[in-house]
Amino acid sequence: MASFDRILSQKSIFRNLSVLSPHYVPKELPFREQHIEEIMTVVSPALKGQKPRNLFMYGKTGTGKTCCMKRVMEDFLEAGREKKTSMHYVNCRIYNSRYRIMQKIMKNYVPELEKSGFGLPFLYEKLVEICSGGEQMVVILDEIDMTKDLDELVYTLTRANDEINGGGVSMVGISNKLSFKDSLDPRSKSSLYETEMIFQPYTAEQLQRILEQRAEKGFEKEVVNSSAINLTAAITSQESGDARYALKLLNKAGEIAQQNGKNKVTDEDVETARKKVEVDLTIETVNTLPEMHQIVLYAICDLSVSGSRYARLQGFENSMLFSGEVYEEYEKICKNLRKRPRSSRWYKEYLNDLEVLGLITTTPSGKGVRGQTTLVRMGQEPRCMLDILKKSLFSEYS
Ligand SMILES: Nc1ncnc2c1ncn2[C@@H]1O[C@H](COP(=O)(O)OP(=O)(O)O)[C@@H](O)[C@H]1O
Ligand SMILES: [Mg+2]
Repeated sequence: MASFDRILSQKSIFRNLSVLSPHYVPKELPFREQHIEEIMTVVSPALKGQKPRNLFMYGKTGTGKTCCMKRVMEDFLEAGREKKTSMHYVNCRIYNSRYRIMQKIMKNYVPELEKSGFGLPFLYEKLVEICSGGEQMVVILDEIDMTKDLDELVYTLTRANDEINGGGVSMVGISNKLSFKDSLDPRSKSSLYETEMIFQPYTAEQLQRILEQRAEKGFEKEVVNSSAINLTAAITSQESGDARYALKLLNKAGEIAQQNGKNKVTDEDVETARKKVEVDLTIETVNTLPEMHQIVLYAICDLSVSGSRYARLQGFENSMLFSGEVYEEYEKICKNLRKRPRSSRWYKEYLNDLEVLGLITTTPSGKGVRGQTTLVRMGQEPRCMLDILKKSLFSEYS
């Protein structure tokens, strides 16, 4: 029978769940001491009243960029408490435009912004005013590539520096996209990339150490043995070297062991967890996609399941789709959803974004096949994805 008494008296194998969450920032970050030292060196002039050079950090997901920056930020705020400095962290996935980013930063100075909107000129003037009082402001733009009008933002902040007398504003950009640099306006590029820092994916041995450190704090003694840790590290390094994935996997394995009333996490639990985590991650990725991206992905899934109408005729496998037929399907679905389809220029952007997220792969067809076209293929099992997308796109209509 269900009862709180019984549930609460169950012994947990977890000592501290929050340690295993992706938001936890450990005091020590093995294999990243040098990166942390370097970031500190770059931002340190702000603590002496001088403007730091802008910094750009990039590397694949889960290489520790965000947590290194948060680690530095904690120490920076502590060291700068009595000084005219500030550091603001903005996640550009959430605050994804110049206006929203400026608003988020200036809220710290103008609490009224919480209630009513002010125009960009007001926010800009306020920024210049504050920094002209001598403040050295460091703005951290995490997932900077999600900013829709980044060139404008960089321009605005750069121009602000020309007007500011006394203090300054500098930027730390962080991106998971390795090729991001190429898509920037040359002026923004040279401004943002005054200093560059690369984060390499972790090796299996490094992941092992990171997992051990977290398991020690997150689980009760002797719950997770080294074999389960090694397997988690091995699986992760094979896939991506993404520390977030590794932690998620270990956490899930723990949940599975717990649900089965076991007091140890075994290799078997890690294997079971692997399948669950993959589905969870796909759901998460798909659900956080903007609508137009979802519709394009839906078109690709749907056509993948039914098979391309043209590919076989041209001697390709029918899991390969022609970019043009996907676009036609996309237009059709938009019509069903009563949305206006975007131009094919936007459509190419969407394909590019979906590829960066690992959801699809694209290849040029080479000459001769209906002129020159792009071939599109699902990165994963389309049926499972189709279900997720249906829920997200059509549930309010059914
Ligand atoms: N060197 C490290 N030591 C301990 N934990 C780490 C380390 N690097 C990353 N992590 C953990 O992995 C997860 C992902 O790191 P994060 O900084 O968010 O990666 P990124 O921003 O590069 O995608 C976080 O939970 C973080 O605490
Ligand atoms: Mg990050």
